[in-house]
Amino acid sequence: MNKIPLTRPFFDEKEINEIRNVLDSGWVAGQGPENKKLEKEFSEYIGVNYSVCSSNCTTALHLSLIALGIKKHDEVIVPDYTFPATAHAVLYCGAIPIFVDINKKTYNVDANLIEEKITKKTKAIIPVHAFGQCADMDAILKIAKKYNLKVIEDAACAVGSKYKGKKAGSMGDTGCFSFHARKNITSGEGGMITSNDKELIDNIRSLSCFGMESAFSRDKKFSIPEFTKLGYNYKLSDIAAAVALVQLRRSEEYIKKRNELAEYYNKKLKNIKSVTVPFTEKFNKHVFQSYVILLDKKINRNDVIAKLNEKGIQTQIGTYALHKQPVYKNITNCEEKDFPNAEFVYNQSLALPMYHKMKLSDVDEVVLALKEVLRE
Ligand SMILES: Cc1ncc(COP(=O)(O)O)c(C=O)c1O
Repeated sequence: MNKIPLTRPFFDEKEINEIRNVLDSGWVAGQGPENKKLEKEFSEYIGVNYSVCSSNCTTALHLSLIALGIKKHDEVIVPDYTFPATAHAVLYCGAIPIFVDINKKTYNVDANLIEEKITKKTKAIIPVHAFGQCADMDAILKIAKKYNLKVIEDAACAVGSKYKGKKAGSMGDTGCFSFHARKNITSGEGGMITSNDKELIDNIRSLSCFGMESAFSRDKKFSIPEFTKLGYNYKLSDIAAAVALVQLRRSEEYIKKRNELAEYYNKKLKNIKSVTVPFTEKFNKHVFQSYVILLDKKINRNDVIAKLNEKGIQTQIGTYALHKQPVYKNITNCEEKDFPNAEFVYNQSLALPMYHKMKLSDVDEVVLALKEVLRE
């Protein structure tokens, strides 16, 4: 067991009570009252008209892509630096993810490089809000409008994050969220799709439940459901929804604490020459799902992870450079020279411990150990 873990979800008796209530109620599957409550409160929190629960963010992305009409051989713009789920979802549709390099400061897609990747086959862009900071949405939405492209926000790490006052997940055609254990709000696994488009969200809801048309009109008079399309079982259980709802209500508290920890880390790491602390755009509200620093290129990041681990401190790489992943080779653009920033960040990024119950003295310990390892 690590002394200071990378992450640790925070639960208390509220979640336990809610789980007990759901078990007692007898409705533990999807589409239940907890799903409904969670969707309503999530929509209010994000500032959109509609939300649909899903089993995770990967399925949220898949449902969004299908509902937005992405088909075989279409091309979808994806940042090269993200968790592979973003591009996997594109491949599930038979479409091709087209990778674009990132901005080294924000870890988000470099919007200046998107247009050169657009072809007649391009149908959508998936901006990822890396580690809880929104991508450059004004520039992305402008390009999308110019080329008539759909925009699916991958807000897996960005519940509560803001771009120029707008919440992540409220700016694209859909927003996709994750409630995985390493996310700010968690139900173990889980996800959500947000949108302002009623027709689109109705389609997503049906697709998440086997393609049943009347799947969500149980309280109306009896009708035998019809399966009008090939849907999936991507529902969220009511047990998970109840947990996510308690967590959602604490979201601002979590964000405040994470920002305090990030500020303290920034201050303590400021004078370590071989470390670059994360950069936040002035107009963004960062939620620090992960606190990710960059190490100087002369430092072997993997050695640092191993040495910190020996000292009882768990750290991790930031996330992945997709062009390096064998699964995408021969399918899409994987030329190393096209992604210098993603390559650098993939090799040199280090996610430091960050969790709700972390104390400032824990940060002191992490920084001290890092200094020792870096000999600074
Ligand atoms: C950017 C991004 N997109 C998608 C996902 C997939 O989320 P889930 O595990 O809920 O499917 C993740 C998970 O870490 C992620 O970081």
